[in-house]
Order: sequence, then structure tokens, then C-alpha cells
Amino acid sequence: MSTHINDDAYFAKTVLMPGDPLRAKYIAEHFLKDYKEVTNTRGILGYTGKTMEGKEISVMASGMGIPSIGIYSYELYAFYGVENIIRIGTCGGYQKECHVGDVIIATSASSSSNFAYQFDLQGGVLAPCSDFSLILKAYENAKKMNLKVHVGPIFSSDVFYDANKDYYKKFADLGILGVEMESYGLFLNAMRLHKKALCILTVSDTFVNKDEKDLTKEERQEKLNDMFKLALTMAD
Ligand code: HPA
Repeated sequence: MSTHINDDAYFAKTVLMPGDPLRAKYIAEHFLKDYKEVTNTRGILGYTGKTMEGKEISVMASGMGIPSIGIYSYELYAFYGVENIIRIGTCGGYQKECHVGDVIIATSASSSSNFAYQFDLQGGVLAPCSDFSLILKAYENAKKMNLKVHVGPIFSSDVFYDANKDYYKKFADLGILGVEMESYGLFLNAMRLHKKALCILTVSDTFVNKDEKDLTKEERQEKLNDMFKLALTMAD
């Protein structure tokens, strides 16, 4: 059925998508029941199982960057009947109020990527957005869980080790909440294929709160677990 995912893989309607294959495995092992590994092509692990409430859900890694999530999200939507892909990851905070450990729900993704050139928009610029029904559900569930949550636009960078250390300021000044490296490709594929996408992030580092301490390993895992639990409430 596809070149990058096992042919016989079965996926639930909703797929959670961390970047790291071992994070997909961790989520399956710690938060799912009756789960099965459904794909492992190129070491990109995917699992389908049930939440503790008995709702079917899948979790599969995206790899890093827009080209990688561009391939996997396209194949899940186009060839495996997936309706909702929810990226879960970490981001660098661009705003003072976005502290390390906070959750960001992305409404749109701006980018330095040329992924949208394929649509030949004749000089026009498309704003890739997440799905409002998914945003609303995630926000309401985050509030119920007492998570510190911010909702707004993010930046999907093509560069992690940027030669221009001040590049982020242009986007921070325009109100972008934080930076990661995948959502732009995911949101564009969802719009192209008339499917739904969302991105939920934990702020793992900050560009602006210079004296803010990094989380300890334990605190980081605890914050990530909170985000995974939030993402799991998205299963229907
Ligand atoms: N840049 C890009 N992606 C990230 C970052 C960052 O600083 N932090 C977490 N994901």
C-alpha cells in the first residue's frame, strides 16, 4: 500500500505522532492496552491499541523535519484511512509567557520551508492551519487537566542549528509562540487531503527567558507524560 509503512499495517482513525520512534514505543507501552506493533519500516515504529477508556488509537513516529512528516502523514491519510493526525512534540519558546514545561496547542504553522512550492501558488502564500474542532477539544481537555496551556501560531523551522542566532526574533516579534520542525508539512498535507491535523507541544527550551532553568530528566518526563495523556483524550 505504501513504500514507507508496512503494507499490512492497520491504523485507528486517530494517530498520535511523536518525532522519535522510541517515544511512540514508550507511549504504547505505558498508556495503551491491547496494542500491537503495526509498522517498523526504516525503524519508524507504529502501534495500534486502545486507550485505558477503551477507545481505539494509534501512535506512530514521524521522524524529524518537514520532509519526513510530509511522507508519513501523506501515506497515513491517503493510503491507510487515517482521519486525524495529532503531532506531539517539543518546541523552543519564543514568548516570555511560554515557560519551559508549558503546553502549546498550535493554530497555524509558519515556516522557512519550501514545502508549499509544490502547489504553485503563483506568488500567493498559504497559511497552513490545524483543525478547529481538534484545537477546541484539546484546549478544553487541557483546562480540565489543569495544564498551563497556550493556543496560537508556531514556526516550523528547517534549521535546528541556525547560523543566524537572531533569526527567531523576526517571528517572535510577530507573535509566534514557539519553534519546532514538522507541523507546517503536516498541516499542509491535511489541508491538501481534506483531513484533520493538530499539534500539541511541550516547551522544552526557551529563546527569551534566559535565566529559566532546564527541566531535570524526571521533570521533563513528567511534563511529556502530561502531554501524552492530553493527546490520548483526543481518541474518539
Ligand atoms: N528549535 C527547533 N525545534 C525544537 C527546538 C528548537 O529550539 N526545541 C525543541 N524543538
